[in-house]
Amino acid sequence: MIQLVRGFRDILPPETSVWQYVESIAKEHFENFGFREMRPPVLEQAALFQRSIGEHTDIVEKEMYTFAGSKDTMLTLRPEATASVVRAYIQHKLYSVDPICKFYTIGPMFRKERPQKGRYRQFHQINAEVFGVDSPYMDAQLIFMLMTYFARLSITGLRAHLNSLGCPECRPAFRQNLSDMLSARTEKLCEDCVRRLDKNPLRVLDCKKESCREAVADAPSMIDFLCGDCKRHFAAVQSVLDRMDVPFEIDTGLVRGLDYYTRTAFEIQTEELGAQNAVAGGGRYDNLVEMLGGPSQPAIGFAVGVDRLVELVEAKFPAFDAGPDVFFVPMGDAAMEMVAQWVCRLADAGIRTEADFSGRSLKALMRRADRMEAKNVLIVGDKEIAENEAVLRNMKTRDQVGVPMDRLVDTVREKVAREEF
Ligand code: HAM
Repeated sequence: MIQLVRGFRDILPPETSVWQYVESIAKEHFENFGFREMRPPVLEQAALFQRSIGEHTDIVEKEMYTFAGSKDTMLTLRPEATASVVRAYIQHKLYSVDPICKFYTIGPMFRKERPQKGRYRQFHQINAEVFGVDSPYMDAQLIFMLMTYFARLSITGLRAHLNSLGCPECRPAFRQNLSDMLSARTEKLCEDCVRRLDKNPLRVLDCKKESCREAVADAPSMIDFLCGDCKRHFAAVQSVLDRMDVPFEIDTGLVRGLDYYTRTAFEIQTEELGAQNAVAGGGRYDNLVEMLGGPSQPAIGFAVGVDRLVELVEAKFPAFDAGPDVFFVPMGDAAMEMVAQWVCRLADAGIRTEADFSGRSLKALMRRADRMEAKNVLIVGDKEIAENEAVLRNMKTRDQVGVPMDRLVDTVREKVAREEF
């Protein structure tokens, strides 16, 4: 039998109900904050990611699914959505009507990482991206929107980690300082980090290898190198978050795994997910739009890891999938013929409906209704037909009422809607 590709997975019911739930709340919540949905494709030119995420990142060096397209173009299954949203913003000149645009996207991303719990090769993100606003109020608003989204899903125990990565004015001095320090410790660094030291010393701060972590334990922090503007910007983000009672901690080791960030960078972490503790991450990328050929427009965004979020929601609400409102139990051919119609009409009227036409015994069908966690069972047999009254039984209270067959659909619909049954 042909099996799944390693690192990929099927998302099956009942888990899909949780996915639908987290996605629907995201849509509603983000739209309240003025975001509109964009759906870029999953395939882009490889150059888009090489230039935006950075040549010397793990994602670009090792994790992209890249293959030859037509006419010497290399194509890549998107490892993230931000670059695509920026490309679309530029390509369709979305800035020309109003430079301030807010988009969200929901969909799969692809990274050839080592699969483990909470880390997949096809995973899913909900992204939010804002263009045209450099005010620190937007940084705070975005983090507020993210934290209140998690609160709406009743997820607790999350911590916002915040750092500032500075700008092209102040980062070179920090880079130099870090590079000088690390050059004296190359024997402690892994091969990748030694190789990247010249081009991208910030990546060493993000390396998970034990000896690299030791080497950077007393590394300088970007915050100490911020220029006046970046310092004021970062202070304002924190003061608005304070005023809005959003708890956060400054994490000077937070550098993120993508190169495009400037100023505010953040991650939302939890202890409940084990090693893969980031449930969302984001930050400013004030130079990316221009770098990819667009006008000079500041931007900021984040991505929620839906696979990890679903795990948190499931741990909170183990029985997420609701059983049917009505489970029909037809006994005999005549009953089946009537039920065949009712089941369709009731489902069409907005009631979650199931029926079993297997012809098995009443006991077997009742057991199945129980297993499916049906709220009500509607029993129809020859006796009920003769009396023109089906039996509606509430599976929790075991209460029973007769339902006139000539008004069955309307009566059941009303009772279920009024939660009488
Ligand atoms: P990222 O930190 O690479 O940022 O990914 C964001 C989130 O996606 C992570 O916090 C994690 O929850 C989830 N994630 C990443 N890789 C995997 C994986 N292999 N398996 C499961 N979940 C994963 C970005 O992608 C940026 N584009 C975020 C952003 C948007 N920055 C600005 N705008």
